[in-house]
Amino acid sequence: MDTPETRIHVSFALPGPAADELAASGLLVTAYTEQTGQPRESLLADAAGASGLITLLSDRVDAELLDAAGASLKVVANFAVGYDNVDVAAATERGVIVTNTPGVLDEATADLAMALLLDLSRRVSEADRFLRTGAEWRWEPDLFLGLDVSAGATLGIVGLGRIGMAVATRAAAFGMRIVATGSRASSPEAAALGVRPVSFEELLAESDAISIHCPLTPATRHLFGPAQFAAMKPGALLVNTARGPIVDELALLEALEDGRLGGAALDVFEWEPHVTPGLLTLPNVVAVPHIGSAGGATRANMGLLAVRNAVAVVGGGQALTPVG
Ligand code: DGY
Repeated sequence: MDTPETRIHVSFALPGPAADELAASGLLVTAYTEQTGQPRESLLADAAGASGLITLLSDRVDAELLDAAGASLKVVANFAVGYDNVDVAAATERGVIVTNTPGVLDEATADLAMALLLDLSRRVSEADRFLRTGAEWRWEPDLFLGLDVSAGATLGIVGLGRIGMAVATRAAAFGMRIVATGSRASSPEAAALGVRPVSFEELLAESDAISIHCPLTPATRHLFGPAQFAAMKPGALLVNTARGPIVDELALLEALEDGRLGGAALDVFEWEPHVTPGLLTLPNVVAVPHIGSAGGATRANMGLLAVRNAVAVVGGGQALTPVG
């Protein structure tokens, strides 16, 4: 017979295959059925007595939520590779394992980073918006001139981990020069793609475009602020598919308004889901609503990995992808 000790609570509507696998686990499951994520008070109430929680990156998993769940809680399985929404120290203190979904979203996120880079460099969204105004136009040699990424432009990858490597693979295929910081920047795999490991300062000074792929931690919060924008090449482009608070969004707005930066493509925002309104009025900003991993197969695999982590730990086994 099910007991409250074997219940897993999911704070959102899991993709179909993951929901089916969780239902087949034999564990008691409760779920908030909207994709938008569960309102705080209702999440606190549903967490009470659960052994496992499957959470979204927009759920704040802090001491309050962990204590609301209580002593039965064994695992928080976050449906994301990033886990800056989880107070891992508070979880560890309470003996709760935290897991994330690494690996399964690298390609999808790298696809979006590359799409944003190409969009920004060749001004695709800007030209699309122009055409939709119904403005008169004819072919002109310098209509919407942009950056030729394939003519040896330098891409700086900040945080060359799994996703950064997938971006490097794409950028190398486009003929870009690549400089990088991060855990794999000096690896043989990176060298095989022509990646040159550099300091953060060198990366800022040398890159025509920068793509951010580091996690959000206290050390990377506002990694990009006024000083870094001033140190970048005039007219350089910035792509962020990592986490919004890595960039000081008001300083970014100023650097774009000053014409110091050539443009920014943003999948993530400092005060998500709020977007600093000034950004959306600039022609050289491309903004999308945190869709880096939004491929159907990718999201299904994220769901399966989150479920497998939760079921394994609740069943007394090892987590597949614990953080830390
Ligand atoms: C993640 O998994 O951290 C991504 O931001 C989701 O797209």
